[in-house]
Amino acid sequence: MSISPASSHAGIVTRDMAWWQSAIGYQIYPASFADSNDDGIGDIPGIIGKLDYLAELGIGFIWLSPVYASPMVDNGYDISDYRAINPIFGTMADMDRLIAEARARKIGIVMDLVVNHTSDQHPWFRAARSDRHSPYRDYYIWRDQPPAKGTPADIEASFGGSAWSLDPQSGEYYFHLFAPQQPDLNWANPALRAEVHAMMNWWLDKGVAGFRMDVIDLIGKQPEAGIVADGPELHHYLREMHEATLTGRDAVTVGEAWSATPTNAPLYSAPERQEVSMVFQFGHVTQFWDEKLGKWKPKSIDWPRLKATFAAWQQALHGKGWNSLFWGNHDLPRAVSRYGDEGEYRVTSAKALATILHLMEGTPYIYQGEEIGMTNAGFTSIEQYRDVETINFHRIQLAQGVAEADFLAGARANSRDNARTPMQWSAAPHAGFTRGQPWIAVNENFLRLNVELDRADTDGVFQHYRRLIALRRENALIRHGDFRLLLADHPCLIIFERRLGAECLLVVVNMSRQETAIPTMGVPSVQGRDLLTGKQVSIKAGAKLKPYAAFALRC
Ligand code: GLC
Ligand code: CA
Repeated sequence: MSISPASSHAGIVTRDMAWWQSAIGYQIYPASFADSNDDGIGDIPGIIGKLDYLAELGIGFIWLSPVYASPMVDNGYDISDYRAINPIFGTMADMDRLIAEARARKIGIVMDLVVNHTSDQHPWFRAARSDRHSPYRDYYIWRDQPPAKGTPADIEASFGGSAWSLDPQSGEYYFHLFAPQQPDLNWANPALRAEVHAMMNWWLDKGVAGFRMDVIDLIGKQPEAGIVADGPELHHYLREMHEATLTGRDAVTVGEAWSATPTNAPLYSAPERQEVSMVFQFGHVTQFWDEKLGKWKPKSIDWPRLKATFAAWQQALHGKGWNSLFWGNHDLPRAVSRYGDEGEYRVTSAKALATILHLMEGTPYIYQGEEIGMTNAGFTSIEQYRDVETINFHRIQLAQGVAEADFLAGARANSRDNARTPMQWSAAPHAGFTRGQPWIAVNENFLRLNVELDRADTDGVFQHYRRLIALRRENALIRHGDFRLLLADHPCLIIFERRLGAECLLVVVNMSRQETAIPTMGVPSVQGRDLLTGKQVSIKAGAKLKPYAAFALRC
């Protein structure tokens, strides 16, 4: 039932094993994408109205953040019914229409599979807490006492506080790695696993193109042993899931795996292991977090370290698995604000970042708004934030003595809400996102930064993404060439080669506000046409690269 967008590009010879190896993913955060009924919240009919825009960009599939029934404690990552649509987002008929309309444009819909936990309002959890002898009791994880401090089970939840909360109804403690309203499922229970498989098949039979699997590296947890990520049964569960749902279907799966390393990543995506198509790995993100205060005290980007991380991933998975490529998502700051320059060089640095990412091996993902270079929210007071994690950590860190101004500076850099402000479609009120009152403030820069303006600019960010996407589709070299990093230690030049047979591509990017000369050693002299702009360029020792200049040429 699933679609194969890539195979439809007639006449292009590919050596791809799967359609998702030449397709680009685009993540939609539904609440913030497009509002069709002016209640201030984006919705499924709103997405349908923008499918032509996404088709023009050239994407192959949409990763749709959760639209299921949910009390929205964590904006839909707390699901109370996996087979129902949250009325604020539309109806199941809207969802069916989205799948069909997307398919008509050769775009697959990838659902967010959130099965590490449910909402506490899910019927399974309601049944579990109301009766200790219910068969659903064992769908969750319980203990009669809170664990003693310092024992293995004494685990902290990602959103702060203990991962064990008392259920007053049954008098026991249940386990939750996120908010208390997100009780963790017990994957050791085969009946629970069978329910998840049946639900996945139900969606696949509807015609969805695959799943993005939320925090999938956590499902093998063994809390009593202090094991959270990457538990001993994890890969067994993933193989079983694949066998029960994906075998014989042409679906794409991408597992969110914060614990993945270049060493264990092939365990997930090696084709012969039959687990998932690829994982989202986060080494390039977490390496710039503070050891103690985490994301709330970000370090500045160190390009040699970042380049080494990318190179390690490229090498670890080449021929052994498959990479995902991304700068941002709904949990991360805006790419251009974090890695580029959101001021004077916003457009050039957004394009430079895209060039680096899209010319590596793997499946690139675009987070909504990245294709026009949208920036961080710029919030200055805690009242502007909506995110449960940000609001919790504001309370927790202030109680620990962190100064309010310091916390707010951290949130301004790294809060999840940076990516969740509404999509900026035009200079109309509320950026054309809604004619109502948006659920979270629109970025103040929407008058000069919006789709209408950027898309009309041949040198804008959108047209650059379009060209990168087309290049990948046309070039097996970009999809499958091997990767070699040059000038690994250079502080701001990102230079790499891709090779496939006799073909070679050289990518040269200056990630700096300063004009930078190419050093005398370590870079081949190459002249030719930049594949992105069509302009003649000459790469050689001493040649000066303008701030955020980015080129790709055959060598
Ligand atoms: C993932 C999601 C994030 C969510 C969490 C719990 O990390 O991307 O948004 O809060 O899982 O479901
Ligand atoms: Ca709406």
